[in-house]
Amino acid sequence: MNKQEEKIIRKADWTSPSNIAFIKYWGKCGNQLPSNPSLSMSLKNSTTRTIVSVIESRDKPAFQFFFEGFKESTFDKKIDLFLKNAYNFFPSLQNKSLKIESCNTFPHSAGIASSASAMSSLALCICEIAEEKSSNYLNDAEFYRKASELARLGSGSASRSVYGGFSTWGKTSLLENSSDEWATFLDFDIHPVFSKLNDTILIVSSEPKKISSSEGHQLMNNHPYAKERFKLAHKNLECLLKAFQSGDTEEFIRVIENEALGLHSLMMSSDPAFILVKPHTLEIINRIIDFRKKTGLFLCFTLDAGPNVHLIYPDSIKSKITDIINSELLAFCENRKVIWDEIGEGPVRFTSENVKI
Ligand code: DP6
Repeated sequence: MNKQEEKIIRKADWTSPSNIAFIKYWGKCGNQLPSNPSLSMSLKNSTTRTIVSVIESRDKPAFQFFFEGFKESTFDKKIDLFLKNAYNFFPSLQNKSLKIESCNTFPHSAGIASSASAMSSLALCICEIAEEKSSNYLNDAEFYRKASELARLGSGSASRSVYGGFSTWGKTSLLENSSDEWATFLDFDIHPVFSKLNDTILIVSSEPKKISSSEGHQLMNNHPYAKERFKLAHKNLECLLKAFQSGDTEEFIRVIENEALGLHSLMMSSDPAFILVKPHTLEIINRIIDFRKKTGLFLCFTLDAGPNVHLIYPDSIKSKITDIINSELLAFCENRKVIWDEIGEGPVRFTSENVKI
């Protein structure tokens, strides 16, 4: 391939985080609209960097995707669908050839939602490229809202990753400006006890998922408990928002553990049923509960749609939590593998000034 054929006419470069949901999105309808509102915390270290280049060429395919330096076709269907949505937003992108290069800071199948960071970084790049071409400039809030909406069409949880800190997605009477179409960041005074939460992920198994999230969401379509679940998510969100404001850590723990176990109960009571927790997941959970009873420390757990356990706790007790991880919990992790993460500030745009290659 000669260099001239690859002439880049525009380029965008974003790093975007994964997130961990405290109120879970599980069930969707219509065009990627959530059945209930969700709330998550963006992570700091678990990120995807995506570079999108617009290539000047007539005979190039609509896109080429490279993952960690190698041409990768596994995600072609997802990207193709994503770009079709993007063309509806930004018709000027149609007939362009895009080179999409992505890499993650975290290992695949580590129980970290890679679609959230991947789709949000891709959406941010696409919005930036479209914005440069348009004469209709968006302000920052509008830009992120658009990126969130586009990210949502790629993967629901990705809509929340275009912001740092805590964000919510899904219409709720509790939050002004909330929407099923995009996420918004949680714009109120959060009690300082929650200001620097850590998320340490204990890798119980790195086996590929038995069921994709998209298939999982479908199980809610005729789930016998669906109606009650969606109601409970609203209630739990309300309780969590109150706890965030008042600094009630017991209530925070109650809600997020209820959401985690609720998510897995829904999967276990689906038809067909899915059991994604492993014996070691339950062993870790029981030990966390015992440790909390013994010490009174603010440590709790949440789970994604997999067996790995996310430990949530404030940074102020990190050394005590490190001790219990090392002395008791590592034994239940696959190859003693743990990922240390914490609340993050959201996506970063690389420009020629701050670009790190
Ligand atoms: C359990 O966002 O991965 O992590 O919209 O089909 O891509 P799609 O699903 P996805 O679902 C995430 C489910 C969850 C809970 C959450 O992040 O809220």
